[in-house]
Amino acid sequence: MATLAVNVDHVATVRQARGGVYPDPVHAAILAELGGADGIVVHLREDRRHIQDRDVKLLRQTVLSRLILEMAATEEMIGIACDIKPDLVTLVPEKRTEVTTEGGLDVKGAFEPVRDAVERLHDGGLTVSIFIDPDPKQIEAAAKTGAEMIEIHTGRYCDAYTETEKERCFGDIADAARTARNLDLIVNAGHGLCYNTIKRFAGTGIVDEFSIGHSIVARSVLVGMKEAVSEMRELVRDA
Ligand code: PXP
Repeated sequence: MATLAVNVDHVATVRQARGGVYPDPVHAAILAELGGADGIVVHLREDRRHIQDRDVKLLRQTVLSRLILEMAATEEMIGIACDIKPDLVTLVPEKRTEVTTEGGLDVKGAFEPVRDAVERLHDGGLTVSIFIDPDPKQIEAAAKTGAEMIEIHTGRYCDAYTETEKERCFGDIADAARTARNLDLIVNAGHGLCYNTIKRFAGTGIVDEFSIGHSIVARSVLVGMKEAVSEMRELVRDA
C-alpha cells in the first residue's frame, strides 16, 4: 500500500499573488493531515516564488506526519536543510525561468556535486531522495551517491497525449522502479499526477510514496483541502 505526501506549494502561490498573509500553507498542511496525508511537501525555491523561509520554519513545528523539503543542491539550501532538519530532503533541479520543475536532476552528468550534497546532508543527520527521470543510468548514478531514495518523475506519463504513448511512459516508470528496488532504493514518484492519472498505478505496488500537489490544491478550491486529500488518499491506497 502506497502512501501520500501532499505538496502545499500552490496554496502559497495564491497567497503570493497578492503578497499578503492568506491562504496560509501552514493551515493547509494541518487540513491535509486531517484528510489523511502521510507527509507534507514544500519546495523552497531560490527565488521564493511561493514557499517562504517562514513557512518551512513553522511547518517544522506544526507538521505531525513528516515534513519533506524539496530543494536545489545549493550552499544556501543545504545550510537551511541542516538547520531546519526536515524528515526528508528531495534534491531537485531548479531553473528560474521554469513554471514548475521540468525534468529530473542529471545525477549522471553532475555526479560529484550531487554526491557531495548528499554527503553533507547525511552529515547533518538527514535522509535524502533524488528526483530523477525514469532512466536506468540516472538511477544507477543516484544509488552511487548514497541517497536512500529516488523520486521518479511522472510528468511525461501524465502529459502523454495518446494511450500508446501513456503506456510506453508508464512502462518506463515501472522499469525504473524495478531497477531502483534492485539497488535497494526506496521508490517515490510524482509530478503532474491527478485524480485520473494516479489510477494506472492501482494494484501495481511499484511506488512506496506519491508526492502530489497541484491537482489536490486545485480540487481543494472546490471541495476543501480535507476532502481533496481524502479522495486522493483512497486512490493512492489502491496503488
Ligand atoms: N515532486 C517534485 C520533485 C516536484 O518538484 C513537484 C512539483 O513541485 C511535485 C512532486 C508535485 O507535482 P504536482 O504539483 O504537479 O503534483
